[in-house]
Amino acid sequence: MAVISVLNPKGGSGKTTLTTNLAQALHLRGNKVLIVDSDPQGSARDWHAASEANPLPLVSLDRANNIKTLSSMTESYDHIVLDGAAKLEDIIAAAIKASDFILIPVQPSPYDIWAASDLVDFIKARQEVTDGSPQAAFVITRHIEGTRLGDDVRKALDEYELPVFRTAITQRQIYPQTASEGRTVLDGDNAKARDEINALADELIAMMPDTGRGEK
Ligand SMILES: Nc1ncnc2c1ncn2[C@@H]1O[C@H](COP(=O)(O)OP(=O)(O)OP(=O)(O)O)[C@@H](O)[C@H]1O
Ligand SMILES: [Mg+2]
Repeated sequence: MAVISVLNPKGGSGKTTLTTNLAQALHLRGNKVLIVDSDPQGSARDWHAASEANPLPLVSLDRANNIKTLSSMTESYDHIVLDGAAKLEDIIAAAIKASDFILIPVQPSPYDIWAASDLVDFIKARQEVTDGSPQAAFVITRHIEGTRLGDDVRKALDEYELPVFRTAITQRQIYPQTASEGRTVLDGDNAKARDEINALADELIAMMPDTGRGEK
């Protein structure tokens, strides 16, 4: 069992998009997955409500005290995927404590990379008192296809001394399109989008051995 949190206080960095798509990728591999919406905005909740056929259970825990109760749910699921809040430090701090793995989606722009600094400090402070838990890694999101992902972006992220996923999420219309129907790109007809989400799930599973099922 693993609690995977998608955290970045920067608004619009792609947290909810990554949460829903990753949760569905893990579900399609035969895992029992719960989505937790920790954002009072309720975007993941709205996404969930947009489709009656949504196969994934979702709960809203948008208070720091409620997030502490996550540990009582862990026995029932292979993976819990938590969608982080924007700007609410106590919720993010509670999510860091409850997590086994943190994905930090970040747009390939210097402003977004600099803005991750406080979150990285928070995570490292936690890792120091727990012998390295939670694991954490960056995911570059909303990459523009056809442009080279600048070495400067990966180099700037390297300075934080956290791993960066090889797979980047590209800016594609299929993400908001499927989201508006309460679905994910894995249910859509864009093979490149499906491939990148599956590649990201593969990388994640390889980084967290012995939790859940990895087969596609
Ligand atoms: N890879 C992508 N391609 C195209 N659009 C995207 C992609 N990722 C995110 N978006 C769009 O960008 C906007 C912000 O994304 P998202 O809601 O996932 O970010 P967020 O970090 O959860 O935002 P917030 O901080 O407000 O919760 C949304 O309109 C979403 O549909
Ligand atoms: Mg969101």
